[in-house]
Amino acid sequence: MLASGRYVNGPETEAFEREFAAFTGAAHAVAVSNGTDALALLLAAHGVGPGDDVVLPANTFRATAEAVHFVGARPVLCDVNADTLLVDGASVARAATPQMRAVMAVHLFGYLAPVGDIADAAEGAIVLEDAAQAHGALLNGRHAGTLAQGGAFSFFPAKSLGAAGDAGAILFDDELLAAKARSLRNHGRGTHETLGRNARMDEIQAAILRVKLPHLRSWIDRRRAIEKTYRDAFAGREDIRFLPAIAGTTPAPLNTVIRCTDRDAVARTLAENGVETGVHYPVPIHLLEPYRALGYAAGDFPNAEAACREILSLPNHPQMTDEDVDRVIAALS
Ligand SMILES: Cc1ncc(COP(=O)(O)O)c(C=O)c1O
Repeated sequence: MLASGRYVNGPETEAFEREFAAFTGAAHAVAVSNGTDALALLLAAHGVGPGDDVVLPANTFRATAEAVHFVGARPVLCDVNADTLLVDGASVARAATPQMRAVMAVHLFGYLAPVGDIADAAEGAIVLEDAAQAHGALLNGRHAGTLAQGGAFSFFPAKSLGAAGDAGAILFDDELLAAKARSLRNHGRGTHETLGRNARMDEIQAAILRVKLPHLRSWIDRRRAIEKTYRDAFAGREDIRFLPAIAGTTPAPLNTVIRCTDRDAVARTLAENGVETGVHYPVPIHLLEPYRALGYAAGDFPNAEAACREILSLPNHPQMTDEDVDRVIAALS
């Protein structure tokens, strides 16, 4: 790829788009610079902009809300389901506004939000999937990102398909929307000249992703097996709970997220035994400083706030050996 001298808008990007579309079963994949740009271009391709409200869960990574700002629309937050910790139809119905133009179905931790229920509650608004953490997650055999009117993916290195840097992609069923996103990512150039920007994927990232993509299925299977080992090992524990998968879905876990009655004690015990953990995410969107201006207060989204207090991400990576997994379990036993 380096020898070709073709560093952007080249054959690696085109080939990756074809291969990622085939992997997910989408009609069209548009390769972009990162997952945040994928979300913003997905919204922009649908014409979401100033004057529009976009409903999204308070329990998500902040990029979901950033993307709404980037297109000039207003993020409207909703709570999450108390059990799944994901946005659902009831939470969207409670948050709906007259200006609701789109809803972000965010599939956190590789677990799918109920896109059908969300679409029912969306009252005709567009439903878009933030599938940045959901490579390989399935609903009755259909891939995350193909379940609604477009899906955004991140290939940040820590994702289950990670680039050697930043990269992202958008999936579409509709050819015209895909063409619009392709134009928007490349300064609005193309058949319909429009105001765009630079949100292209580098050829080198596309080339790296093409080498990794054929391994993704087996890597996801390994993460599933590791998560099952944790579930089996901690099945009798009242102080540790695992997330439920919605009927018909096959999750593709990233880290293994558990809910703990005393999260800090569990994290401390693991740290003392040399096991690194994370919290994804410690603060809900409405309590993050940049989003204070939205006017929400502590207590507005109790399920999201409880999630932020209780969740802990256990190590889960396809390169972990059985002994690595046993070490985590032993540390907590
Ligand atoms: C749920 C979610 N949405 C959006 C993003 C943004 O992706 P990126 O970091 O590639 O911009 C991420 C990943 O970081 C994410 O986890």
